[in-house]
Amino acid sequence: MSLASDIPADRQAALAFDLKRLDPAFLADPFPLYRALREHAPVHRMPDGSYFLSRYDDCAAVYRDPDTWSSDKTRDFRPSFGDSLLYEHHTTSLVFNDPPYHARVRKLLAPAFAPRALAALQPRIEALVDRLIDRALARCADGGAIDLIEDFAAAIPVQLIGDMLGIPPDERRPLRGWSLAILGALEPMLGAEQFSRGVTAVAEFKAYLRDLVTRRSGEHGGEHGGDTGEILSTLIAASAFVGREGGSHERLSELELLHNCIFILNAGHETTTNLIGNGVDLLVRCPEAQRELRAAPELIVTAVEEFLRMESSNQLGNRRAARDTSLGGVAMPQGTYVHIGIGAANRDPAQFPDPDRLDLARRPNRHLAFGTGIHACAGMSLARMEGQVAIGRLVARCATIAPADAPTRSGRARFRGFLRYPVRLA
Ligand code: HEM
Repeated sequence: MSLASDIPADRQAALAFDLKRLDPAFLADPFPLYRALREHAPVHRMPDGSYFLSRYDDCAAVYRDPDTWSSDKTRDFRPSFGDSLLYEHHTTSLVFNDPPYHARVRKLLAPAFAPRALAALQPRIEALVDRLIDRALARCADGGAIDLIEDFAAAIPVQLIGDMLGIPPDERRPLRGWSLAILGALEPMLGAEQFSRGVTAVAEFKAYLRDLVTRRSGEHGGEHGGDTGEILSTLIAASAFVGREGGSHERLSELELLHNCIFILNAGHETTTNLIGNGVDLLVRCPEAQRELRAAPELIVTAVEEFLRMESSNQLGNRRAARDTSLGGVAMPQGTYVHIGIGAANRDPAQFPDPDRLDLARRPNRHLAFGTGIHACAGMSLARMEGQVAIGRLVARCATIAPADAPTRSGRARFRGFLRYPVRLA
């Protein structure tokens, strides 16, 4: 089934495209405009002098050349974040840094994403998903409906990352709000209220984690949390926080530890919630695909890749040129800022035949939903597993997944998803 909008995208709309002036129609369905950009202005210069890339090859080339394309945001975040805690947070997390700092943090985080840690988490995800479905079915059997986002999609990553970081269950309530506020501050247009919510969230999150790390260091003495999938203890052991001696330049400072833990929580939260929400939405909009998945449940593996490609939860990346270069035939002097159109690249017909078609068995499917290169998503295996378990079990256990009311989009350009999605399950 084709999901392409009928509205023809024209050259003028592409040439006038400005990430700082987005209208609600674009936020609801950016894909016609992305197509127009690919066709008419694939390396598009915007009024502030930055470029928007919409072709797969250009986006992949930027990701794969970190020597030319820097992730360091110390300069870029200054105008919008000043010297606030948002600035401290975002410029300390590994994703917004270059080697050698990036490589050091990534290496220290590696055990958190190793197969052993993931294997320990899978049964927990399965049990959690089943509990959430039991509860949802009971509510729907009484004639009610559930919110697919709050009651299902968002409840999964928050518990999982809570387990990963060993956050006690009764202390997890504020996590999602903090996460939304901190990530919300990365939107192309940042209002005063959004900014102040972001700053408060970093302050509260940091104070909470500092306290947790102190408690945890005392409990485990910095040892690994066994086979529970808990990795905060490993990170503490890899940090200078507990005052260990030797090789401290290899370790994380207290600030680095706290901000990178906050980043993991944020990175894995909203993105995975939206993978689940966007995936179920695609199945609701394409009953044919839903039937196909019911008939062949093993398709869930390629289906999740297709959901990631068609409705990437993270639609935008960005880099700055560390030296003079060129892209798609356009000369770019050192300092040029580029926006990587992940959502646009993932619908590029030069890479994906019939790109607006939801093809649950699509292979190959080298989408850029997780980026690629040295910063490729560290949590991709975890996100895939969560998506497969959550959507796979929902479809297996519910013969009907029907909208109960119109869904509400989150209205964000970078993080694509829904705020509310009322459904009835049977
Ligand atoms: C569907 C879910 C997810 C999506 C779409 C996603 C997307 C991405 C993307 C596009 C990047 C690359 C950013 C760049 O190069 O500029 C990234 C990086 C990262 N993600 Fe994810 N992510 C997801 C889930 C997760 C989860 C579950 C975790 C951890 C619990 C996680 C942790 C990270 C980390 C640590 C990085 C930084 C890697 C680095 O800079 O080396 N992500 N993610």
